[in-house]
Amino acid sequence: MAASEIIQAQAAGQVGTAPSPVQVMEPFALIIFGATGALTHSKLLPALFRLWQGNFFAAPFIIIGVGRRDKNENQFRDELRDAAEAHGRMHAGDREAWDRFAGNVFYHRADFTAAESYGKFSERLQALEKERGLNGNRLFYLATDPDRFPLIVEQLAAAKLARREADRPWTRVVIEKPFGKDLTSARALDEHVLRFLREDQVYRIDHYLGKETVQNLLSFRFGNAVFDPLFNSRYVDHVQITMAEDGGMEGRRGAYYDGAGAMRDVVQNHLLQLLALVAMEPPTSLGAKDIHDEKVKVLRNLVPRDVREVNRWAVRGQYGAGTIDGKPVHAYRQEEAVAANSATETYVALRLGVDTWRWAGVPFILRTGKRLARRVTEIAVEFKQPPLRLFTPLTQNGNLCDRTCNCGPDCRCGIAQAEPSVLAFRIQPDEGISLSFSAKQPGMQLALQPVRMDFLYGQSFKQALPEAYERLLLDALRGDATLFMRSDEVTTAWEFVTPILEAWERQPAPRFPNYAAGSWGPVEADQLLSGCQRAWRQFQQ
Ligand code: BG6
Repeated sequence: MAASEIIQAQAAGQVGTAPSPVQVMEPFALIIFGATGALTHSKLLPALFRLWQGNFFAAPFIIIGVGRRDKNENQFRDELRDAAEAHGRMHAGDREAWDRFAGNVFYHRADFTAAESYGKFSERLQALEKERGLNGNRLFYLATDPDRFPLIVEQLAAAKLARREADRPWTRVVIEKPFGKDLTSARALDEHVLRFLREDQVYRIDHYLGKETVQNLLSFRFGNAVFDPLFNSRYVDHVQITMAEDGGMEGRRGAYYDGAGAMRDVVQNHLLQLLALVAMEPPTSLGAKDIHDEKVKVLRNLVPRDVREVNRWAVRGQYGAGTIDGKPVHAYRQEEAVAANSATETYVALRLGVDTWRWAGVPFILRTGKRLARRVTEIAVEFKQPPLRLFTPLTQNGNLCDRTCNCGPDCRCGIAQAEPSVLAFRIQPDEGISLSFSAKQPGMQLALQPVRMDFLYGQSFKQALPEAYERLLLDALRGDATLFMRSDEVTTAWEFVTPILEAWERQPAPRFPNYAAGSWGPVEADQLLSGCQRAWRQFQQ
């Protein structure tokens, strides 16, 4: 039962405090490194509050934020509450509940780059654990600057806060993305982390995997017998994945982003994960290993690999000034903490394939960008036209219409045209799944028109969707790594992405900016598809 379901059921008096199979039954301490950062405020603490409110924590627990800034417990709690309210994750009536929840939240000031901090922190942690009757189960969440990850893991081990050899009480470490910045650094980070922790203690997070709609990809494909038989090169013309954002570099986001770019920030992880889920073979079970194994097979078979021709199948872009929602916005190079001559890409489009029996020859086209016309994430599976084009319209002369006919006012061309059927997974916003297909228009003429069958979460289910971080934190606390990335998933994705990044670096500096904020990206991205006779899907503004 999802947090929100339990909350609703409790509100309706249907659920008391009876144990549920998805509750965390054991006591725990959750320690967040990077406690004063945006992620902790906007996502992690609101998610933990909702889980607590939904009765998912069945035993005592504490949450300790570790940060470098000087503040006391109450300041920290108040800041967290304000942020939860500002992000709409807490409502007016939740104040009293928040105060009770906040009694479990602590702040510890420490410079986590300094070895001596860990001894003092260990003392504080043990004192709090004793006071609250906890048994030493610990989940460390690394939400700091990624450069700090190796040091923190090492120091946790040195201070005996994280132990590789002991199963009980358990120690787990959640590592935020980006996990490395190329193949070499990801492998080095992995080797380093796995010197101090076992693989089953490491939770590499990709929050897209916690999104309800992303999880539904597997339920939809493998929980119904009707759709998956169509997912192959016989029926599918191409698969299109769009992750468009209208946001840019809010706050000081540019400080991180300018060293990363769209490829590292979202393609290597979110987009390739979506691709893997839509293209993978059915796993033999829903166990973590079986799912990870199948995803890795997809990532390993991504093509093309010949980066000498990278510009034929990969496009990068960077936004210039423009208008979003009627408001003028800066060019990327004018954003705070971004270099004035930055060559960082804020847009990527790729025309890929998956070289397997099922998918050989089917284009997988991906695009993502900041400051695009609107925020939308979608996976669209576009089907082929039927083998015999019965509904292809004829011109008046009986010739096949090529859509450039010149038949004059009596033109009947286009009347019977069948559009390709499309199955679209809308990940956000308007979460749902739709199937567009051609239907005969009522009337005496044989005219076809695209129509849509729609599944909308909002209509079929009464509760709000849980946030990705709610699900992922709960899973980490329960020891379920299915929705996290296994080591080889991360490195296999880097194996594909790194040569592209290197090829781009070898090229002369790109002529940026090459798309206006508020547009749908650079023209080169359209050209990328014209080579394969496909077009980007259009979304209403
Ligand atoms: C993060 C990226 O992982 O995902 C951000 O670092 C991006 O740059 C964000 O904006 C998008 O997440 P969501 O859930 O809002 O689609």
